[in-house]
Amino acid sequence: MGCREKGFVVWLTGLPGSGKSTIGKRLADVIRSLGRRVEYLDGDLVRPWLSPEAGFTREDRVRHLTRVAYVSHLLARNGVVVVAAFVSPYRDVRDRARELIGDFVEVYVKCPLEVCIERDPKGLYKRALAGEIKHMTGLDDPYEEPLNPEVVIDTSILGVDECVDRILDYLRSGGYL
Ligand SMILES: Nc1ncnc2c1ncn2[C@@H]1O[C@H](COP(=O)(O)OP(=O)(O)OP(=O)(O)O)[C@@H](O)[C@H]1O
Ligand SMILES: [Mg+2]
Repeated sequence: MGCREKGFVVWLTGLPGSGKSTIGKRLADVIRSLGRRVEYLDGDLVRPWLSPEAGFTREDRVRHLTRVAYVSHLLARNGVVVVAAFVSPYRDVRDRARELIGDFVEVYVKCPLEVCIERDPKGLYKRALAGEIKHMTGLDDPYEEPLNPEVVIDTSILGVDECVDRILDYLRSGGYL
């Protein structure tokens, strides 16, 4: 009980390599196993469909994230739980997503830049540091930390399961689950 079966959005934001996808996928699986309808939206999978023309300038990122926010809104208002994993580096875009969506749980997937660079799961930092790509968040593009996120998880300290549990705890105590 206590489950209002209302849609909501868990928005994971953080530096590349911080752990958004790793945590987001796991979180989506757990919520699905509770019997909820869940859509997992991941930057890597969604971008080619919603914003195939987009690069990584501020303007392009804002346009892309605005589309993602709108799709998340459509899903959530139809009872779907959305888990969204996007670097989403700009505070104002995240705030506008929050305004549009309402039931919005911002999770700051926090991790020191040095640790992200060490992990470098996609080799993007390496390429950026070699000067092969531009607009790399954390290097030559800004990341604006959330000021008032619902949840902060430091993935350089906590294990993946612990991170997922922290988010689940918040969702339960907030009446989302
Ligand atoms: N507590 C943790 N939570 C999440 N990932 C962790 C944690 N500890 C170590 N890792 C590792 O860190 C890496 C995070 O990569 P992941 O692809 O999830 O990052 P990301 O934030 O989705 O990056 P990107 O923005 O480039 O998509 C993985 O290799 C994962 O195994
Ligand atoms: Mg990812």
